[in-house]
Amino acid sequence: MKDLTPKKSDLDPIEIASRDEIQSLQLERLQWSLRHAYDNVPMYTKRFDEAGVHPDDLKTLADLAKFPFTYKNDLRDNYPFGLFAVPREQIVRVHASSGTTGKPTVVGYTATDLSNWADLGARSLRASGVRPGNIVHNAYGYGLFTGGLGAHMAIERLGATVIPVSGGQTRRQVTLINDFQPNAIMVTPSYMLNILDEFHNQGFDPRACSLDVGVFGAEPWTNAMRKNVEEAFDMHAVDIYGLSEIMGPGVANECVETKDGLHVWEDHFYPEVIDPETGEPVADGETGELVFTTLTKEGLPMIRYRTRDLTRLLPGTARTMRRMEKITGRSDDMMILRGVNVFPTQIEEQLMATGGLAPHFQIELYRSGHMDSMRIHVESTPTAANEAGKTAAARMLARRIKDVVGVSAEINVTDPGGIPRSEGKAVRVIDNRPKE
Ligand code: DLL
Repeated sequence: MKDLTPKKSDLDPIEIASRDEIQSLQLERLQWSLRHAYDNVPMYTKRFDEAGVHPDDLKTLADLAKFPFTYKNDLRDNYPFGLFAVPREQIVRVHASSGTTGKPTVVGYTATDLSNWADLGARSLRASGVRPGNIVHNAYGYGLFTGGLGAHMAIERLGATVIPVSGGQTRRQVTLINDFQPNAIMVTPSYMLNILDEFHNQGFDPRACSLDVGVFGAEPWTNAMRKNVEEAFDMHAVDIYGLSEIMGPGVANECVETKDGLHVWEDHFYPEVIDPETGEPVADGETGELVFTTLTKEGLPMIRYRTRDLTRLLPGTARTMRRMEKITGRSDDMMILRGVNVFPTQIEEQLMATGGLAPHFQIELYRSGHMDSMRIHVESTPTAANEAGKTAAARMLARRIKDVVGVSAEINVTDPGGIPRSEGKAVRVIDNRPKE
């Protein structure tokens, strides 16, 4: 793999500024953001008043803990435009996420917000090892989802050439990669696995393709998956994180030279990690729920937004901005089986370590008697797709999950192609338990 470490002189100076400098910028911006939300969004005025706090009460960064949280439901309750902090005419773009239940959540951006997003996206790409002049194949979905258009602006702002392919039509993805010779690809990690299969179906060697780096996000993925994809394509695999409520892709990004977690772009987003039960902030290094406060967002300021993503904050390495560890999962995706908490990423780690299995899987939850149970559907590799191979792999995976994760799971190994393929975010959990 190529050394893609960016030159120090190409970084934004704030990426490697002193902690003091970063924190004083954060304090100044946080004071602005709290006031902006309080003065312009009735929900925040009401919430702050009810909690007996005022933007003037924020004298230090730690004072933020006095302010109330914001939840995904607040966006639904104020559907569609009720949380915008500027007149609707100043919103130049909306995005929305469908979610699994209820109304979609709608987010809006001013022209300045879009410009900041493009800058942070470009910063994320540079951290990933992409350079001006490169060609970038963008297979994140275009439309209401922030992935496609967010990545698109980032690529253009960096000064690279964007191929706006969007998701789907997997045969064509491979043809375009072969024909246009992109240096980088932006796509969900699960869809990258489908593209990998399609390389094999068409008889092309993925290691011989032009890609030097993949910028993968929008869903949890493990270091085991990183190793798999890096080996398959002979390229770097780097993690990009974001969520529409806070901005979209590019809230945090790994550095290609370290790949040790994602640096949060702390000059625009203030991260906290809290105990999800008590709501109390935990110390850096401790795991909990990630909470973000936007520092510069005009259209849709978010104060202490509960992401439901579980991670921990770590000190900076390649940049002075703090890192968040690769996301373990969302609290919504956590399964509790006989008292043991299980995340799909833990299952992914174990199946990647088991011979004879392809990395395509789904977890089915069902009720047996009074107990919740888990059945894992996973594909065999083409070479192990015989009864003996499948039985051996199933036994091995069940043993690993029992030993390492601590739960019993039934394993159903299918033939290659047996698991539904994602073209964006993979659906990992199918809940077939009776509704209460
Ligand atoms: O998924 C934005 C995005 C697009 C990020 C493209 C990266 C690349 P939403 O659809 O609002 O936005 O979903 C946000 O996806 O709260 C996490 O649960 C999950 N997520 C996003 N990036 C990662 C990641 C986009 N790198 C939700 N690792 C977030 C793990 C991620 N989970």
